[in-house]
Amino acid sequence: MDKKVTVIGAGNVGATAAQRLAEKELCDVVLIDIVEGIPQGKALDLTEAAPIEKHDSHLTGTSDYEASAGSDIVIITAGMPRKPGMSRDDLISTNAKIITNVTRQVVKMSPDTILIMVSNPLDAMCHVAYEASGFPKNRVLGMAGVLDSARFRAFISMELNVSVENIHAFVLGGHGDTMVPLPRYSTVAGIPITELMTPDRINALVQRTAAGGAEIVSLLRTGSAYYAPASAAVEMAESILKDKKKILPCAAYLEGEYGINDLFIGVPVKLGAGGIEEIIQIDLTDEEKTALQKSVKSIEELKEILKK
Ligand code: APR
Repeated sequence: MDKKVTVIGAGNVGATAAQRLAEKELCDVVLIDIVEGIPQGKALDLTEAAPIEKHDSHLTGTSDYEASAGSDIVIITAGMPRKPGMSRDDLISTNAKIITNVTRQVVKMSPDTILIMVSNPLDAMCHVAYEASGFPKNRVLGMAGVLDSARFRAFISMELNVSVENIHAFVLGGHGDTMVPLPRYSTVAGIPITELMTPDRINALVQRTAAGGAEIVSLLRTGSAYYAPASAAVEMAESILKDKKKILPCAAYLEGEYGINDLFIGVPVKLGAGGIEEIIQIDLTDEEKTALQKSVKSIEELKEILKK
């Protein structure tokens, strides 16, 4: 393949993203993890599936960043899950250290790459990678909105019994609890959902979407969602690799857009070969502005923890 994507973290999200990238024949894939053997084993297993899945993407598993040299995109999923007794602040500083370390090694090997962040807490980890990389803002972005909007679309499809392909959903803001869905711009075959569902039902689906990650965690018990997060990261990567210029909700560094400064937060962006090629701005209602401000506040709190 003439394109190369490195996935850091060969856990659930990373390995599933590697599988999807390879099976869609988008690129060669390098899978890196700090635990020796895991990336090698998973890459070999995926390679052995290739003749059946009929793809010629090459997969390499390693703990050595050399193999990642010259990557077009690096997807970062490395991190620690929250352990019992660990506070949110502890988790942030542990993951911030991991992301700083990983980003520095990535940048040494691929100074022109585009970073797609997946590790949580997402918006804060985007900041860490942005600072550690020294990259321009168009080459650091975070996966959150594509996942949140996919969850919303899945729930709308279940509610109305229509094809997921007919559904578009628009979300802004931080990942999870403070996400800001925009029902008036969420449509089924072009019809706003506000004309198809009662406000109560829309609100119920919005609440379920905002708590979507927690719903999966409570079912799985050990671990968090990974199929949909991996799909979301790969959709972003595909738009960049193929220069498709899709408009997707991504965490992006804002400098004045939506009245927000010096913060990574979810907004609709145009994704092409240059990474974030444009931030799409729309007018918000007062209610939407208030919800977005709440999101901004919660991300700023995380940023403060990073300074400690
Ligand atoms: N360098 C490389 N890999 C690392 C490092 C490091 N410094 N530290 C941890 N890892 C690896 C772990 O060894 C593990 O294989 O990151 C992987 C994380 O995988 P999982 O624990 O399975 O977590 P996963 O479900 O894949 O989620 C990864 O994505 O959606 C987010 O909240 C989620 O932050 C989490 C991340």
